[in-house]
Amino acid sequence: MSTEIAAPSAAETAPVQTPVQKKVFLKTYGCQMNVYDSDRMSDALAKDGYISTDSVEDADLVLLNTCHIREKAAEKVYSELGRLRDMKKARAADGREMVIGVAGCVAQAEGAEIIRRSPAVDLVVGPQTYHRLPQFLERARAGERVIETEYAIEDKFEHLPMPDKARTRARGVTAFLTVQEGCDKFCTFCVVPYTRGSEVSRPVSQIEAEARRLVEAGVRELTLLGQNVNAWHGLGPDGTEWTLGHLLAHLSDIEGLARLRYTTSHPRDMDDALIAAHRDLPKLMPYLHLPVQSGSDRILKAMNRRHKAADYVALIARIRAVQPDLALSGDFIVGFPGETDEDFEDTLRLIETVGYAQSYSFKYSTRPGTPGADLTDQVPEDVKSERLERLQALLFSQQTAFQRACVGREIDLLIEKPGRLPGQVVGRSPWLQPVIVDAKTSQIGDIIRVRITAAGTNSLHAEVA
Ligand code: SAH
Ligand code: SF4
Ligand code: F3S
Repeated sequence: MSTEIAAPSAAETAPVQTPVQKKVFLKTYGCQMNVYDSDRMSDALAKDGYISTDSVEDADLVLLNTCHIREKAAEKVYSELGRLRDMKKARAADGREMVIGVAGCVAQAEGAEIIRRSPAVDLVVGPQTYHRLPQFLERARAGERVIETEYAIEDKFEHLPMPDKARTRARGVTAFLTVQEGCDKFCTFCVVPYTRGSEVSRPVSQIEAEARRLVEAGVRELTLLGQNVNAWHGLGPDGTEWTLGHLLAHLSDIEGLARLRYTTSHPRDMDDALIAAHRDLPKLMPYLHLPVQSGSDRILKAMNRRHKAADYVALIARIRAVQPDLALSGDFIVGFPGETDEDFEDTLRLIETVGYAQSYSFKYSTRPGTPGADLTDQVPEDVKSERLERLQALLFSQQTAFQRACVGREIDLLIEKPGRLPGQVVGRSPWLQPVIVDAKTSQIGDIIRVRITAAGTNSLHAEVA
């Protein structure tokens, strides 16, 4: 801004009614898509005059972007709302307003229940209605308790504002971009098809425009997001039907964009074009998050995963054949109803066969409304805990082995942010590990060649090669 600041005249120093800038505190739970959504919502709110604040005490609007995937995640929201209720009361006593909104997957799944259980909540907004947030807020501020959970995914993407350039720049050199949302797979344990709706792919032109905007704002690495990102499909500019592999190839032509990733994939949707992309696209990082959940065919069937353990193992072999440097990450659930010791041993065997660099593992959590909730042969909690411990010990040893195997290697590092100590910066390896190296913060956004010198549990140390 180039506004001149002149000495105030007498008239200007008299008290005037200036509109106070409204502040929003946004708290994000759950997966990367919620992170993306929170950024889109805060961009939309910025257009509406809200500035972001890190302090809930300061906020005129508190927005919780919630996750419903496991019981613990959903319950967190209600305890947070309890704390906010007290804060709102104290505020009201001072004559100040505080609007409380719940967004995300709990909002979608339990909108009416939130309104009933938490009287302090003014607004419940489902993931497909974010483009109308400013209107909803207006109604909430006028005293209405708003619940909005309908609409189609397509509407949202047509009407949400593009990422704001200055705000994108402030967020750093990596960014998420939702290309696909919703899920038609209906795994029997999972709430996502109910909270995010049915599978929708955004059109190529929309995705490309957003990707270019992000790159213009300094983004070097893009992670394409979808609940089933590799189910993405759309009409290519060449008039043929594209799948994710084609889209990745198309985006990798964007000048200035250095790296591409995608998550989360389903084994059933790893098609030839996507496998070829891992062979052909230097910008596509050799990292794949491909959840399998269980290594037992019986349990996979009961989960409605629609593939066998051997299919998964064969698929990994095909991908590794074209990209031997691939680091694999996975999700696992222990204690799905009916899981026997033998089923669990099958999962351990699959993990030993495949070898994971990274992983996420969970005890099965019964989710209301899913087919799994109706199954009677639930596994006792202590058995789940014991299995999870064994599973995590195995996965941890694989992760440690992967970390150690990196020592001595020379790799490309994308520098992302300043390190904890002066003179240090932190970047990401191609396999998503944080890497600490001595370099200048002016190099943030650069890709440099480094040699790995030491490995910790999650991060690596390196020197400039
Ligand atoms: N779309 C992804 C997963 C999204 S949910 C996929 O198909 O793999 C992220 C992870 O949460 C899942 O992979 C699963 O491991 C876990 N999860 C989902 N529902 C769960 C439940 N009811 N109990 C425990 N873990 C669950
Ligand atoms: Fe959930 Fe299965 Fe869909 Fe993944 S594929 S989001 S686990 S229903
Ligand atoms: Fe949670 Fe919804 Fe993501 S349930 S994992 S925030 S899609």
